[in-house]
Amino acid sequence: MKTWVKKRLLNRHKCQIINNSLICTTFLTNPMKKEVKISHKYLKTCKKNIQELYERESLNPNIEMLLDFIKRLKKEKILKKKSNILELGGGMGWFSTQLATNSDHVVFTDITQGHLTIAKQYQKLKNVNFETSLIPMQNINSVFKENSFDLVFVSAALHHCSNLKEVYKNVAKVLKSKGKFFVLCEPMVGLFYKNKEIEHVANKGAQDVPYTIRNYLKASNDFFDYELEVSKTVLYYKKNINKIRSSKILKKLFILSNKILTEKSINNFFFKKVYFTFAYFFGRVPVNIILTKKT
Ligand SMILES: C[S@@+](CC[C@H](N)C(=O)[O-])C[C@H]1O[C@@H](n2cnc3c(N)ncnc32)[C@H](O)[C@@H]1O
Repeated sequence: MKTWVKKRLLNRHKCQIINNSLICTTFLTNPMKKEVKISHKYLKTCKKNIQELYERESLNPNIEMLLDFIKRLKKEKILKKKSNILELGGGMGWFSTQLATNSDHVVFTDITQGHLTIAKQYQKLKNVNFETSLIPMQNINSVFKENSFDLVFVSAALHHCSNLKEVYKNVAKVLKSKGKFFVLCEPMVGLFYKNKEIEHVANKGAQDVPYTIRNYLKASNDFFDYELEVSKTVLYYKKNINKIRSSKILKKLFILSNKILTEKSINNFFFKKVYFTFAYFFGRVPVNIILTKKT
């Protein structure tokens, strides 16, 4: 890997080199090699400061959006107390913890053993209950029964899978008829925006695959109908402008967007058209993909 790419990744994404592969310290996974590692030092710090870790996660604008998303699904009666819910690649379990406060049957999955340990601690901390399963999302059909879930969620983890179609096929299998699959917070590249960093990492067999919005949708086509939404994360960026790690130009764009982004404007028909066209060509902007199982 070129040295400058390595340097930038190490600085920007808090990555580490372990056994010659580039691994993100926050996740410490290397899914393509089906090898999962977590540093003992990191885990020890997390265990000691579980409350702090939980609160630190809450500051993430994506998490704020996810919370809002749960509220909305409850209001629309899509998420109910008796809903069977599955989360794929749930990280340390923050979102499943929130889902479990609203539903009696939540299953959290991830491929990092260390994350499962933390997820169990979150359960104790917040006094909730959910199942945990160490399973890659492309293999869920080997563990869960067909037609068993009402809702499946994935947030910022689907892009770690090199075979999207396989994941969609298996999610469709475990979902009940007309069940929903919510694909949230996934990073996207665009036709004119090729993220060289992601490509380099992907080529090295590590974490991220540079998918475009079209890739995400096309692979789902055989199994799902789709709906696109402007992710409310764009509204929360406003509050956290100083925390965003990006170039000066992008920051200026965010500040400018402060003026036009409101709850109302992001649901406007024309705004959405422009937004999704931008997403298609340049990626980067957050989009929610809502998939409904085809009957
Ligand atoms: C960027 S984190 C996202 C965590 C969490 N969903 C969130 O939104 O904060 C990606 C997570 O996906 C998990 N992951 C990576 N590849 C996976 C796979 N093939 N199957 C299931 N989980 C995977 C990683 O262990 C990591 O916890």
